[in-house]
Amino acid sequence: MSNETFSIKGKTFLSKDLTRVSLQEIEGWFLSLGFVFFQLPNSSYLKLLDPGGIVDEAFLTKLKRKKCEEVPVISVVDQKHKESLINLFKKLKNSQLEVENIECSREILNDFKKVFVEGSHDYSLLDYLLAFQEVFSLFLPEFFKQVAEMDVDIFKRNMVMATFSVFLCLQLGYLDFNFLSDVYHACFLMDISLYEDVLPWSTHKAIENEQRLPGEGLRTLTDFKNIAGRDAFVQHPLKSMQIAYSEYGNVFYNRGVLNVITKHQENAAGTGFPQKLIQSDFADWEAVIVFVEHLIPHEPLLLDRGSGRGILKNLITNLYKNSMGQFYHFDRIAKILKKEFQIKLEVEKAS
Ligand SMILES: [Fe+2]
Repeated sequence: MSNETFSIKGKTFLSKDLTRVSLQEIEGWFLSLGFVFFQLPNSSYLKLLDPGGIVDEAFLTKLKRKKCEEVPVISVVDQKHKESLINLFKKLKNSQLEVENIECSREILNDFKKVFVEGSHDYSLLDYLLAFQEVFSLFLPEFFKQVAEMDVDIFKRNMVMATFSVFLCLQLGYLDFNFLSDVYHACFLMDISLYEDVLPWSTHKAIENEQRLPGEGLRTLTDFKNIAGRDAFVQHPLKSMQIAYSEYGNVFYNRGVLNVITKHQENAAGTGFPQKLIQSDFADWEAVIVFVEHLIPHEPLLLDRGSGRGILKNLITNLYKNSMGQFYHFDRIAKILKKEFQIKLEVEKAS
């Protein structure tokens, strides 16, 4: 096979990695499994989708109009790896014995640590997002579609948040599959009361800023003199929990887990909202979810091959640096991370 390459917008691809994927197969995707191209009559390639791009009606119609029966694709998903994750979680789901549960969780966490912390494999984050969706998701496909159409980056961030929250809960020793499923679903509903057909720019900005620095989201809406938006933002944890309970309660094994939604903008220092809770108001698993909510940035996510490599370590190091060691719930989470993942955290204290 030749080592021919082609470049698009500064990124180089190997021609030998291209495979032809039928339109019928692509119709079964929701997120693109790789780079999807269109071959022009002069044999050069046009990139249509990045890995994790949304395969929606508009995209499929475009392909059909071009009378494509198959398109060139460079996949970034390692099917064998994805399947092994799915099988481990299925084993965890079906196991009746605690000793089996412990064994399964050990294998899952081993993979997690090797890729996300030690960076010893170049798997794409997509392997995990797709495996977790297949294993856990009880949402109707329409729900995913709606959120993705409203804001694709928020949708993908929710998937990452759900994935990391489940992993860290496993690390804390929560081995019950149904509980992990509830954690997974709750992560998609934190801001559900703020969602509209298209997310208003100021709300998006507020969500983004609040993640970066607690209090900044509210400040953003005050600066915009968006009083109604600010009130809705203050109340969104409570409102989102009510909506989640009444409209999506059916996907939960235990609706009590939904209570974490009311706490997702709080922090251990007692400076969050709307209730100004303090550290002792959080169970360990709730602290994990709120920690992950602060951990995942709102920048568009890269899902290329290698995107999983060391990602948790990098995110934690960045969060620690950016907050000058002032972590929300960090003292609890830090113990787990330091002990299990041996992540060295050093930061210059502000003088
Ligand atoms: Fe929120």
